[in-house]
Amino acid sequence: MKVAALVSCLVFVLAQSALGHYIFKVLVAGDTTSGKAVRQPPTVEPFHDITSAAATCNVNTAPATEAPSPSTFGKAPSKVADWDGSGQAWFKIAEWGVASYNPVKFKSYQLSEFDTTVPENTPPGEYLARIEQIALHLGTGVPEIFVSCAQIKVTGSGTGNPAKVSIPGYIKANDPGVIANIYNGMTNYTVPGPKVWRG
Ligand SMILES: *[C@@H]1O[C@H](CO)[C@@H](O)[C@H](O)[C@H]1NC(C)=O
Repeated sequence: MKVAALVSCLVFVLAQSALGHYIFKVLVAGDTTSGKAVRQPPTVEPFHDITSAAATCNVNTAPATEAPSPSTFGKAPSKVADWDGSGQAWFKIAEWGVASYNPVKFKSYQLSEFDTTVPENTPPGEYLARIEQIALHLGTGVPEIFVSCAQIKVTGSGTGNPAKVSIPGYIKANDPGVIANIYNGMTNYTVPGPKVWRG
């Protein structure tokens, strides 16, 4: 297992299909780029239920085969390759909310790479780095959800203790951030899930 430098830059890169569906396929950690660290979703198709088992790490439960080194972070009880992401183990390190209203435009609009840094005070250990995108463009109250997890190892001497949640469970099916109609003159939006922890 490769070791990621602490406070290294983490980037999830997505691959898009002709229909505008996509998966997050590649993780860049510092100077290491890896598709093998990502538990590859089998298709680009979204799922729709934020309370389903797929919310954890999509529907591929096979461990990734490599770990170099963002949005939610889950600390594995021991070896990350052996962990399915269950339990109250997750905290959020980044989010991309609304950039402007009327019409609503999200900060993630047309981004194909999502960059963040590992908070300096993150305790060392093996983690799943998970990215989730809740697409609201159908305007029907039914979201399209895209999730990937990658296996990483965090080094350093961080001693932070962020509050943790379970996935699924951390967002209710009727959360306004999941069922919002962006074509209905929306004037406020709160990214669902826990608050961002920056150490
Ligand atoms: C916007 O704020 C109102 C009033 O607090 C709330 O009922 C609604 O759910 C919010 N909408 C979103 C999309 O967060």
